[in-house]
Amino acid sequence: ANGLIADTRGRVLHDLRISVTDRCNFRCNYCMPKEIFDKNYAYLRHTDLLTFEEITRLARVFVAHGVQKIRLTGGEPLLRKNLEKLIEQLAVLHTLQGQPLDITLTTNGSLLARKAQSLKDAGLKRVTVSLDGLDDVVFRSMNDVDFPVADVLEGIEAARAVGLGPIKINMVVKRGTNAQEILPMARHFKGSGMVLRLIEYMDVGATNGWRMNEVMPSSEVIQLIRSELPLVQLDPSSPGETAQRWGYANAQGQHDPAAGEIGVISSVTQAFCGNCNRARLSTEGQLYLCLFAGQGYDLRSLIRGQATDADVESAVAHIWQGRTDNYSEQRSSMPIDSGAPVKRIEMSYIGG
Ligand code: GTP
Ligand code: 5AD
Ligand code: SF4
Ligand code: SF4
Repeated sequence: ANGLIADTRGRVLHDLRISVTDRCNFRCNYCMPKEIFDKNYAYLRHTDLLTFEEITRLARVFVAHGVQKIRLTGGEPLLRKNLEKLIEQLAVLHTLQGQPLDITLTTNGSLLARKAQSLKDAGLKRVTVSLDGLDDVVFRSMNDVDFPVADVLEGIEAARAVGLGPIKINMVVKRGTNAQEILPMARHFKGSGMVLRLIEYMDVGATNGWRMNEVMPSSEVIQLIRSELPLVQLDPSSPGETAQRWGYANAQGQHDPAAGEIGVISSVTQAFCGNCNRARLSTEGQLYLCLFAGQGYDLRSLIRGQATDADVESAVAHIWQGRTDNYSEQRSSMPIDSGAPVKRIEMSYIGG
């Protein structure tokens, strides 16, 4: 029952995003607003979480179905105790083509200075660090826990020093909040070997009070950056990629590889559902087929029951083959500012 699987729209499963905790030490307003995620918020209980053995068992099933890349997310994944142990277990897996898995992690960087070396030693290949601005006042207000930007920059530097690269830097752009940081961020990361990615603020979850007028379309972001730093469009580096790539241009208008590239992730203004090849496993073992899905499929009760690996493999194949999701495409034809038709999961629960 193993082998590649395609959904009803012909999209072949390629990536698995695994959330390892629903907790975070930041309270970014677009993800975990303080008023909702306060001390009374009901986080998952420890017994609800998949153990590392359970995660690895499921990862093996997905790899048997062609998954080539695993991304660990949260919440903040580095808050999960002994995460290095999980990475060690995942790092020995091989793709169907016999290659080592691409194992990466999306982090807010707050614990990275401390953990970069042990993550690298455990077998992590690279990291993506969220960073919404360089100005300390702006950064502290974005994370909403008064966390200093210098500590994240130190984490990024530690990751670079131990070879956790190529590093990607994720910046969620909110008009009226941090758009003035776009150019300083572009200047800072140009020529650094790191790829800055500017992300449209998404209507994900049900608590962030999303409004279209706070979205800065990627087309505008690109206009702004190229007004100072000339850009040329680059081809996608892999099918189903979330970001559109732009390279910094030299005086001849050609891409200058030494200056590097940026990416824009335009899930609101230019939906990329057409080749969305990502499955998402929640901290408690629910399989979600879309970031905006109303419900998941309970894999935890399968593996905590009598199911054999072959049973789990055919269940996963069956679920993926029935997949129809294309939320972001649909939202383009929905009234502006309209909420989702169903209860949506939170970003901190599913990891983006
Ligand atoms: P790479 O494959 O390394 O480029 O990573 P990625 O872009 O898939 O993952 P990352 O965790 O860095 O996410 C970047 C942004 O893209 C975040 O805002 C995610 O929520 C968003 N994103 C990732 N996958 C999807 C998706 O399938 N649909 C939508 N709408 N947004 C996504
Ligand atoms: N819109 C866009 N991106 C978001 N992220 C979290 N919430 C949102 C949102 N509402 C980003 C984080 C992280 C990535 C996994 O998702 O900043 O970089
Ligand atoms: Fe935490 Fe990342 Fe959400 Fe910010 S975006 S609250 S760092 S999980
Ligand atoms: Fe994939 Fe859903 Fe995002 Fe579309 S909205 S790209 S289907 S996760």
